[in-house]
Amino acid sequence: MKKVITYGSFDLFHEGHYNLLKRAKALGDYLIVGVTTEQYDESRGKLNIVDSLDKRIENVRQTGFADEIIVEDHPGQKVEDVQKYGIDIFTVGSDWTGAFDHMKQFCEVVYLERTKNISSTQVRNASHPIIRIGVVGTGRIAVRFVPEAKYVSGVMVNSVYNPKIESAKEFGDQFELDLATDDFNAFMKEVDAIYIASPHQTHYEYAKRALEQGKHVLCEKPLAFKRAEAEELFAIAREHGVVLLEAIKTAYCPGFVQLVGIAKSGVIGRICDVEACFTRLTDPGLRERTDTAYGGGFTEFGSHTLLPIMKLMGTNYKEVRFDSIKDENGIDLYTKASFVYDHGMALSKSGVGVKSEGQLLISGTKGYILAESPWWLTQYFEVRYEDPSKKDRYFSKFLGQGLRYEISDFVYMIHGHQGRSYKFTEEESIAIAGVMEQFLAKREAERREGL
Ligand code: CTP
Repeated sequence: MKKVITYGSFDLFHEGHYNLLKRAKALGDYLIVGVTTEQYDESRGKLNIVDSLDKRIENVRQTGFADEIIVEDHPGQKVEDVQKYGIDIFTVGSDWTGAFDHMKQFCEVVYLERTKNISSTQVRNASHPIIRIGVVGTGRIAVRFVPEAKYVSGVMVNSVYNPKIESAKEFGDQFELDLATDDFNAFMKEVDAIYIASPHQTHYEYAKRALEQGKHVLCEKPLAFKRAEAEELFAIAREHGVVLLEAIKTAYCPGFVQLVGIAKSGVIGRICDVEACFTRLTDPGLRERTDTAYGGGFTEFGSHTLLPIMKLMGTNYKEVRFDSIKDENGIDLYTKASFVYDHGMALSKSGVGVKSEGQLLISGTKGYILAESPWWLTQYFEVRYEDPSKKDRYFSKFLGQGLRYEISDFVYMIHGHQGRSYKFTEEESIAIAGVMEQFLAKREAERREGL
C-alpha cells in the first residue's frame, strides 16, 4: 500500500484545496492530511485564519479523499509523521517547490501544480474588502506600526494625519502613503479604520471623533485617562457598530495569552498575588520626563503592568494606593501601585527614572509563574514549585515588533468575529483608565499642595 501525506491550513476551503487533495489521493492508496492548529499557524506568521480547526478538518473530511486526518501543531512534525506513518510520498502544492526537498531523505517528494487564481488569502480579501488604515501621529510607535501591518492580510495603511503638516509629509514619504494631511476631516474620508499613536492626552478626542464617524479604532495605550471617557468611547463604538481596541501589544501576543491560560488553569493553585514591573530610563529631554500633566513612569508604562494584574486578579480591586518618587516638577520617576483584592493583592512598578528588575511574578497556593524581562514581549516563562527540581518551561514565538498580533485581532473583529476579544476586554480597558484617573487625581492634588 502506497501511503501519501500532505499538509495545509485549509482555511475557507476552496477549489484549490479540493484539487490538491484529489491529486494527492491519486498518487497512492492511502492519504493522510495534516491540518494546522491556529496556534501553529500563528507561530509561523499566518495570523488571519478564520475557520476553526474543527471546521477546517470537517471540510477536508467532506471531500472524501482523506483516509486519515491528523493535526499539525509544531515545527519538525512533518519529519516525525513521515517516519511514524511509514509514508511513501510527501506532497504539497507547487507554491512550496523546493521548500521540502529535505524530506527526500525519508520519502519521495512531489510538488503538485497549484490551482491558479485561488487562495485562502484571496477568498478572505474578496469576502472582506481591504481595510484602509490611517495613522494618527507620527512618533516612535507609529513608525513601527506601518511595517508590522504588512504582515497582516486584508489591511493597507494608506494615510497619515498629524496637525503638524511637515511631520505628516515626512512620514507619508517615508512609507509611501497616499495621503499625508493636517486636515482630520479629509483624513476621515480616506480611511475605514485608524490607529491612534499621538500623544497620550489626545487619544480620547481622536478616538471619539473617528468612532462617531463610523470608523474602527485601534488606540495606543492609555486609551483614556478617565474611566467615564473609556466607557463613553466603548458606548459610541457599540452605537456605531464599529470596533474599538486598546493597543497593549502584550495582550495579543501568543506567549502572553498562553501565560494567562496557564496561570488560570490551576497549576499554581489559586492566584494570590501578581507583581509586574516595567522600567526604562528615559532621556530627561523626552516627553515622558517633561510633560508635567501626562508624563511620568505610570502613565508611560503603567498600562503594561496593569494588564496582567487586571487579567489575573480581576478588575474589582477593593483599594489602590500609589507611592511615587518624583522629580522637581512633580513628574513621577518611579511609581508603585498596590492593589488590595478580596482574596489577594497586586503590585505594579513602573519607572522612567528608576531602574528595577522588569519581571512578572504570579504567586499561587501551589506554585508561581516567573516571566523575566522583557516579559511584555512574552517569549519565555517558567512555572515553579516548592520543589525546585520541578520546573515547567514554556517557549513561544514573538514575531517582529509584535504589533502584528494586535493588528490581526483588530481585523478579525472588524470582520465580525468575536472569538479573540477575550484577550483584552472592554472591562479591562475601562478598569485601566479608572486606575490612571485615580493616579493622576492624586498626583495633581499633591502638586497643588506642593508635595
Ligand atoms: N493549494 C493549491 N492551490 C491553491 C491553493 C492552495 O494547490 N490555489 C495547496 C497548497 O499548495 C497546499 C494546500 O493546498 O499544499 C493547502 O494550502 P493552504 O496554505 O491551506 O491554502 P492557501 O489557499 O495557499 O492559503 P493562504 O492563502 O492562507 O496561504
